[in-house]
Amino acid sequence: MAARGVGMLARLPLCAQRSQVLRPTHRLFSCPGTVAADVKREEQSSRNVETGSEGRTPKKKFSEVQKERREQAQRTVLIRCPNKISEKKFLKYLSQHGPINSHFFYESFGLYAVVEFSQKESVTSLQNVTRTPSMETEAAIPFKSRFFNLKMKNPSSQTSEQSCVQSSNHSPPSNKKLSELLCYAESMDDQLNTLLKEFQLTEEDIKLRYLTCSLIEDLAAAYFQDCTVRPFGSSVNSFGKLGCDLDMFLDLDEIGKLSTNKTSGNFLMEFQVKNVPSERIATQKILSVIGECLDHFGPGCVGVQKILNARCPLVRFSHQASGFQCDLTTNNRIALKSSELLYIYGTLDSRVRALVFSIRCWARAHSLTSSIPGSWITNFSLTMMVIFFLQRRSPPILPTLDYLKTLADAEDKCIIEGHNCTFIHDLNRIKPSGNTETLESLLKEFFEYFGNFAFNKNSINIRQGREQNKPESSPLHIQNPFETSLNISKNVNQSQLQKFVDLAQESAWILSQEDKDRPSPSSHQPWGLASLLQPSVLSSVSLAKKKRKKPASERIKNLLESIKSSSPENDTHTNGKRTVSTQA
Ligand code: GTP
Ligand code: MG
Repeated sequence: MAARGVGMLARLPLCAQRSQVLRPTHRLFSCPGTVAADVKREEQSSRNVETGSEGRTPKKKFSEVQKERREQAQRTVLIRCPNKISEKKFLKYLSQHGPINSHFFYESFGLYAVVEFSQKESVTSLQNVTRTPSMETEAAIPFKSRFFNLKMKNPSSQTSEQSCVQSSNHSPPSNKKLSELLCYAESMDDQLNTLLKEFQLTEEDIKLRYLTCSLIEDLAAAYFQDCTVRPFGSSVNSFGKLGCDLDMFLDLDEIGKLSTNKTSGNFLMEFQVKNVPSERIATQKILSVIGECLDHFGPGCVGVQKILNARCPLVRFSHQASGFQCDLTTNNRIALKSSELLYIYGTLDSRVRALVFSIRCWARAHSLTSSIPGSWITNFSLTMMVIFFLQRRSPPILPTLDYLKTLADAEDKCIIEGHNCTFIHDLNRIKPSGNTETLESLLKEFFEYFGNFAFNKNSINIRQGREQNKPESSPLHIQNPFETSLNISKNVNQSQLQKFVDLAQESAWILSQEDKDRPSPSSHQPWGLASLLQPSVLSSVSLAKKKRKKPASERIKNLLESIKSSSPENDTHTNGKRTVSTQA
């Protein structure tokens, strides 16, 4: 949610705040069953992402996925375990409370287990036999959550039976490993798909995200009974990269609504409530109290900051046990709608996610994006640019939002705060594209397209799928698909946009050169996508000072050639020492 509150956020010492955030390496461990089954399941689980539905029909609606995951999370508990534990005994102990559907272990400054029971009652049963710890020097604030701490009764007598649970690593690949994987790929299409496979959220990571929201919901429910905490943004929109933040919003809209139809007779009963002058003030008050609650009583919630004066007020905190950096907002239904729209686009055609992931990694590698709010392009904006580009292909790979609106039926109708957010929900009713372009060609064309885009006069508009005159003077104008008077990239300044354009041109040029002279696989030289993720030659000169006398493509060509012929860096290419930098 960084971008929405940029004005205000930029004034806060966020560098310092971000540094508190713990981004542990998640090491995930085995599930029950035989070893062979474990391996198979692990392979499947790490490959299966939320929308890994390509080839699987019918594709699930966003609301169905959310409902299933939410319900699953409510039956799930998070347990901090001793570092060495007998998995068999652990499962037997927990099974006293009911059958277990699935479980996995991960490491995040300690060993944790995520255990999904078959029934919700099992959680209550476990809570009923759980005690509040007695502290010697400190005092515990009693809170009956679904986050537990498992201790050995007699640690010394059990040591011999304890063992390390089987591990598998689900953190994103190191720069070196990614570079190797990409170099050994058979084609550029293979490279883009490899990058997607390595960076996409795993099944376990997704489960942990929904569980974290569910744990926060338990806390918020202490104040607002029947509230819902829903994940949105890249955690659910199919474009989440391992390690991305967890955006969640506190949905209070359903409270009290369900009961309205049940009243009969001549009277209408309403809750007595406190009134405040505006919706914004109500949001600030609610988030303020939830922020306090997370800070004082939230197990594992640390570094809580209340950023209430941002355009979209939020509470930012780190959920230590899951390692997620969380942004909690309220009244953010439009953002949830955006997530659903992106989910549809990401699920419609298997090329979309592969392209978006590669562009996001490319942007990160060249510091076009940042985890700190500022004048950088955001991942959200980049995704919109890819979607727009895919709408512009001939034939189009993705439909326009207006077209998705024409396919909507009465059930799909949705107006939020006066904005028409209607579009079809059922993906299976959207006709697949007849476009057969390869990922290689799409990547090249993307850089060509935006390397030459008339950003000075045109706006990017995914609703209509065509350029429009810019309604205001921001360097980059990407129309918010639902709040159409807003620009989602208002924060981007001219120099960041120019950097994007220069890098896009440079990348287009590199790929066109490779067409003529691609390194052989045996040379182990970075090629294709791997060479695009190398530090840019442009970054070695000050972009701001550059004089634009010759056409950009010619300048880049000259620059590259002079650097290639004179620099000893050429050698580091061949011995593979240059590294790919893509980590968030
Ligand atoms: P990551 O960089 O992986 O976190 O991508 P993200 O899509 O989750 O972006 P971010 O966390 O910045 O924002 C979360 C969600 O808020 C986005 O997916 C959008 O739905 C919404 N959002 C972000 N920025 C804007 C904006 O400038 N305008 C509007 N209307 N919505 C935004
Ligand atoms: Mg996010």
